[in-house]
Amino acid sequence: MAEVKENLHMEKIVSLCKRRGFIFQSSEIYGGINGFWDYGPLGAELKRNVKELWWRAMTRAREDVAGLEATIIMAPAIWKASGHVDTFSDPMCDCKKCKKRHRADQLCEDQGLALTKGDNGQFAFPAGTKCTHCGSTELTEPRPFNLMFKTYVGPIESEDHVAYLRPETAQAIFAQFKNVLETSRQKIPFGIAQIGKAFRNEVTPRNYTFRSREFEQMELEFFIKPDEAIEAIHGSVATVPVSGHPGEPQPNWGWQAWHQYWVEERVRFYEGLGLARATLSFHVQTADELAHYARATTDILFKFPFSKRDEKGELKGEELEGIAARSDFDLSQHQRFSGKPMSVFDEELRNAWPRLPQARQDALWQRYYAHRQRYLTRMGVAEDAAARQATEDANALAKGNYIPHVIEPSAGVDRLILALLTNAYTETVKTDDKGRSETLYVMQFHPRVAPIKVAVLPLLKNKPELVARARAVFELLRHDLACFYDEGGSIGKRYARQDEAGTPYCVTIDFDTLGENPELHDTVTLRYRDDGRQERLKISGLRQWLLEHVR
Ligand code: GLY
Repeated sequence: MAEVKENLHMEKIVSLCKRRGFIFQSSEIYGGINGFWDYGPLGAELKRNVKELWWRAMTRAREDVAGLEATIIMAPAIWKASGHVDTFSDPMCDCKKCKKRHRADQLCEDQGLALTKGDNGQFAFPAGTKCTHCGSTELTEPRPFNLMFKTYVGPIESEDHVAYLRPETAQAIFAQFKNVLETSRQKIPFGIAQIGKAFRNEVTPRNYTFRSREFEQMELEFFIKPDEAIEAIHGSVATVPVSGHPGEPQPNWGWQAWHQYWVEERVRFYEGLGLARATLSFHVQTADELAHYARATTDILFKFPFSKRDEKGELKGEELEGIAARSDFDLSQHQRFSGKPMSVFDEELRNAWPRLPQARQDALWQRYYAHRQRYLTRMGVAEDAAARQATEDANALAKGNYIPHVIEPSAGVDRLILALLTNAYTETVKTDDKGRSETLYVMQFHPRVAPIKVAVLPLLKNKPELVARARAVFELLRHDLACFYDEGGSIGKRYARQDEAGTPYCVTIDFDTLGENPELHDTVTLRYRDDGRQERLKISGLRQWLLEHVR
């Protein structure tokens, strides 16, 4: 039963989103296109606010992060180096009977089963797996399907001219790492942030906008020193608290402290947008789940109405953001594929190394050598060449050079928008004294993300003095705040419309504003969305009051 109610809940949210102009199906007049969504007037404002808040928190508010805005189509070699050409795929299968195409892992999951992976890397269905559409067990073997969208650059449609729509924004950051480092006067540790579109040709887009084929990411690649460098400089790597925020960044932090720091920073960001900690959960990826580049990944999940439940009946949640410790994998790959050095020189390390006792130097050298050698052989470099290269890398470390490691908080904008929409949605049934009931919908957004911050309403539209004053108040506010003027319909109806849009404050201009009650001259009624409370505020202080309350 719970399942039915949750789906109903989701249907109502989808319906409100369309009715009020948050989200429309892309190309709707032509029947739509699966996996693509448009944001209407309210959705566009909501999304803009979210991206602006991320950019502010992750870039402008920090001295250790610089921004980037790269192209969507890049040199195809980038995707070879990143591993996407060879490994960025989902297993898919077809039902031989009804011809329905499925994502094989989801098909299993929906039946409480798990797709198995043999030693040869091939996926296989566990016994009893059925087509969820027609019930047949006649399914093709799961086969990998690369998720990148292909196109051609220039007029010739041949393999030599293939290019990809980026499946993540991250790779541009790695490819531009040296340019940003050299122009931003940053030193390790520091980060590069980017917001932008990404594209994945999902086998089965689903759950409304949650898994779309065109979507937007907000990604930070935060470059840190390898632990061996930290140990050489500071004697040891800081221990990490078992849980919670590790506090202000410290010079002796290794990758684990930085990883935990970014998980907790990101949770604080979500709390600041109105997603209480209780609405979030965490998933620490197992070795099997980790992407090819990751050493550890913690996912921050939001408990969506369509999320599955755990054994205790609790909603498990779906991923809003993954915080991955990517080691030096990405920059190492780009160094090998482009032939351009991605290492940095660290004067602190160069000065610290000769002061270390020989045994300590040897131990750190060996550890770094082993790490580099492991990476190279895993990437298919022949054993003797890998040993030679790893020796060079470890010798370079002893002279103060290394390829930085990376912690990557990677968030999906559209998933966050969907989380904010479902979190904000409330409905109440109001019955009047004649027994007539109506359902009222209120989108309880945090004022920070609300698409419209304030609505300006003259009490009556047929009183020119009220309208003129209301237009003047609107003019006073609209240059600094997303503001909406509305004079149509009863004041109750207009409040209800703003509640559905999630507008936190309504300002009403009435006869007292005009001086009918001299004590209230030049004041307005300010109405709060969530409890309907009202108070009088002076027009002279209104702009400042609102700016402080939507910050
Ligand atoms: N950059 C990580 C991701 O796109 O999932």
